[in-house]
Amino acid sequence: MPNPPLLLFLLSLSLLTTSHSLTKPSDISALKSFLSSIKPSSIPSYSCLASWNFSSDPCSVPRTTHFICGLTCTPDSLHIQSITLDSAGYSGTLSPFISQLSQLTNLDLSNNYFFGPIPSSLSSLSLLTTLSLRSNSFSGSLPSSLSSLKFLQSLDISYNSLSGYLPNSLVSLSSLRRLDLSFNKFSGSLPKLPNSLIELALKNNLLSGSLSSSSFSGLYALEVIELSSNSFSGSIQPWFFQLPSLQQVNLSNNSLTRVNIPAGSNSDLIAIDLSFNKIEGNLPSNFYTYPLLSSLSLRYNRLRGQIPLEFSKKESLKRLYLDGNYLNGKPPGGFFSGESLVSGCLGDNCLISCPVTSQLCLPSQKPTSICRQAYGGKPRS
Ligand SMILES: *[C@@H]1O[C@H](CO)[C@@H](O)[C@H](O)[C@H]1NC(C)=O
Ligand SMILES: *[C@@H]1O[C@H](CO)[C@@H](O)[C@H](O)[C@H]1NC(C)=O
Ligand SMILES: *[C@@H]1O[C@H](CO)[C@@H](O)[C@H](O)[C@H]1NC(C)=O
Repeated sequence: MPNPPLLLFLLSLSLLTTSHSLTKPSDISALKSFLSSIKPSSIPSYSCLASWNFSSDPCSVPRTTHFICGLTCTPDSLHIQSITLDSAGYSGTLSPFISQLSQLTNLDLSNNYFFGPIPSSLSSLSLLTTLSLRSNSFSGSLPSSLSSLKFLQSLDISYNSLSGYLPNSLVSLSSLRRLDLSFNKFSGSLPKLPNSLIELALKNNLLSGSLSSSSFSGLYALEVIELSSNSFSGSIQPWFFQLPSLQQVNLSNNSLTRVNIPAGSNSDLIAIDLSFNKIEGNLPSNFYTYPLLSSLSLRYNRLRGQIPLEFSKKESLKRLYLDGNYLNGKPPGGFFSGESLVSGCLGDNCLISCPVTSQLCLPSQKPTSICRQAYGGKPRS
């Protein structure tokens, strides 16, 4: 009579030693479909994808000839864990069947020529923590279904051609720390953002409307806000600069008209760029209360009045760009003393006695006629 435990043992031994079918069939068929959506002519012989040859199992080791790079497997070799393609210039669409890779945690196709829509089925990759489709040619909208990715920590789809509104469901990405959708064509206003965010980058889109506290409320970990080159308008209210972890803000090249800076003695803000907007009113003196502020740019706005004396006494301040406004009066002498470490520019204003020997005073001030006009015909200063 055959010995059942021995049979089982032999059976499992043969399973372990066979070189094929380690990886689950559903993962293999998903990979095949992923590969077949990429144009063969865009796969150079030296690239990772050129080594994806299904005559071997994708998860079998050692990888000397087949599946040399571009993917990793789970420790049990049953599933694909990550796909990180090289930047070989691959062109094609992203197969919706990639969603069958049930254990995938990282998908990185950055710096290639993928085009077409982002499949909404990516929402089935429930363990995904990193999704980078940066610098490709994806178009269409950002699928709102992606908001079901509860473990997603980093989403980078910058430098593509996505358009439409940012989905309101973004807020549900409850683990998201880094969101970069810069250099796309997103329009409309900012929805409520996920509370877990540390870094927000939406540079060079077509976003508009005002910066509303409802988008940012509860974002206690947010350190970096990159919203330059959009069409945001209206005023920046004090709550914005009071986001408790904020370190860097770039709102350059928008259409903001007012800025209301609260005192900031507990603030971590290091760099603020509000250049190329339409900000009116006096230069907000409260900037000097931010203990770590090192770089401040307000160039090319419509600011008036004098440069507060405190700015020249502020030791943390290393870069100060105030050129292209209507600032008047005499700039604080501290800027021009031998000890001053401030670089930057105060030119193209209505300042008087800005020493031409100082780099800070280049280029020259505005013509008197323009400054008279700006100050309602009254003599300047
Ligand atoms: C895949 O590998 C097998 C041998 O392992 C080889 O015969 C076959 O030509 C390869 N296929 C491609 C497309 O390179
Ligand atoms: C300003 O933003 C527009 C898009 O809103 C962009 O086309 C332009 O290049 C930006 N300018 C600078 C100097 O960044
Ligand atoms: C802010 O963004 C603009 C446009 O992207 C860029 O030119 C500028 O250098 C940025 N400012 C800082 C301080 O990095």
